[in-house]
Amino acid sequence: MSQNTSGITLEQRIKELEYENAALKQDIVKLKNSRSTDTSLFSTPADFNEIEINERMAQAQKLESLGTLAGGIAHDFNNMLFPILLNAELLLLKSSAYDNETKESLTQIYENALQAKELVHQILNFSRHKKIEREPLQIQNCINTALMLMKSGIPRNVSIKKNVDPNTPYVVADPTQLHQIIMNLVSNSVHAMGESGGVINVSLMPVNVSQSDANDGVKPGNYICLSVSDTGSGMSKEVMSHIFEPFYSTKGKENGTGIGLSVVYSIIKDMNGDIKVHSQLGKGTEFKLYFPEFSEKRLVSRLQTPAINEKIDVVHQIHILFVDDEDTILKVAKSILNRLGCRTTTMIDPVAALARFKKEPLTYNLVITDLYMPQMNGDCLAEKIKEIRPDIPIFLCTGFSDDITLDMMAQKGIRAVLSKPISIAEISDKIEKFLNTKISVT
Ligand SMILES: Nc1ncnc2c1ncn2[C@@H]1O[C@H](COP(=O)(O)OP(=O)(O)OP(=O)(O)O)[C@@H](O)[C@H]1O
Ligand SMILES: [Mg+2]
Repeated sequence: MSQNTSGITLEQRIKELEYENAALKQDIVKLKNSRSTDTSLFSTPADFNEIEINERMAQAQKLESLGTLAGGIAHDFNNMLFPILLNAELLLLKSSAYDNETKESLTQIYENALQAKELVHQILNFSRHKKIEREPLQIQNCINTALMLMKSGIPRNVSIKKNVDPNTPYVVADPTQLHQIIMNLVSNSVHAMGESGGVINVSLMPVNVSQSDANDGVKPGNYICLSVSDTGSGMSKEVMSHIFEPFYSTKGKENGTGIGLSVVYSIIKDMNGDIKVHSQLGKGTEFKLYFPEFSEKRLVSRLQTPAINEKIDVVHQIHILFVDDEDTILKVAKSILNRLGCRTTTMIDPVAALARFKKEPLTYNLVITDLYMPQMNGDCLAEKIKEIRPDIPIFLCTGFSDDITLDMMAQKGIRAVLSKPISIAEISDKIEKFLNTKISVT
């Protein structure tokens, strides 16, 4: 029998620990009963134990640093994609000059670069600790991107059926949080179906909950209901009573942290929505999320940016000041803008760009600037340029377009946001729209 220095056998110590653990559980039950009725989210898991929680916190911290690393790589990769995408698009515009095989190769390069752009955008969003930014959006778009991103990780014997109305009304939500919700629910379903696979149904539809409806106790109102159901293992009543608790998992340390559903729960509750679960052991599970609907009328007024209709007559060649701290981006932007018939002055340093603008403010028709740069960020540069020439249109060109709110655009006088890596179509559309002119690739 093993004995430690304090003279207590290991078996005795285990008994003591079991006793302490049981006492702790009783305290938790008492605490739960003395608090408000809805304590499920912040209650402590039944198998609470300090070492385990510390281990899981360490794991969460590891994941956090991995996220930061991934974010850094994604940012650089985004900048590398910029010339790939623009040059492929440029070559495709001259497609009559190539044979079919070359055209096909170019199209493949372009389409894959577009997919990479979407992927990088999602990684950037996930890896950053940005403030929660809610905006009117349609959940159907988030479903499509989230499923596209998950595609490669979903086993072949799992089929996903979508029943999503493309015209489902808006909700006010943070797109990153919506992705998180969809990915958590779908990956739980995939896991619940195990090796035999099965079907996951994702549906989205407007629902009106009236006073008289039972509807699982959801408050009356107009909602957009997202349902994710599967033909997986289902859950027992006991498991169901714990699923929203942080760190509760039945998957073992290697396969689950037990955070997924607690995050989903806190996001939806914070949006004044609701979540309901139905599950049958051996048959499957359905999660229904109720997002409060956002009315269209409020949307139209919010999306009108000030000064959007101001017209500028451009009779001469457009002169653009393009500011970015990456040399490759400046090079490719210059060549594209020149192809669009614009004169372009590129500057790598925002402070020098401001000094140059000050010297000859009337020579430029448009300023396009990156957002995050050393010494001076793009929004600050925009503000200073506006002090010199309040009428000049300014576009922000950034990989972090989610950081820019309509309020910030209005405040700093920014007319448009181009999200990196931009496409020729996007840049020429915005120039035509905001400078009231016609341009085309030469
Ligand atoms: N679709 C489902 N079918 C069956 N059980 C489920 C389903 N979704 C969740 N569960 C149960 O709820 C538990 C908690 O889920 P949650 O997503 O919070 O954590 P997890 O999936 O175990 O870990 P992770 O933090 O990696 O998401 C799961 O361990 C599982 O037992
Ligand atoms: Mg999960």
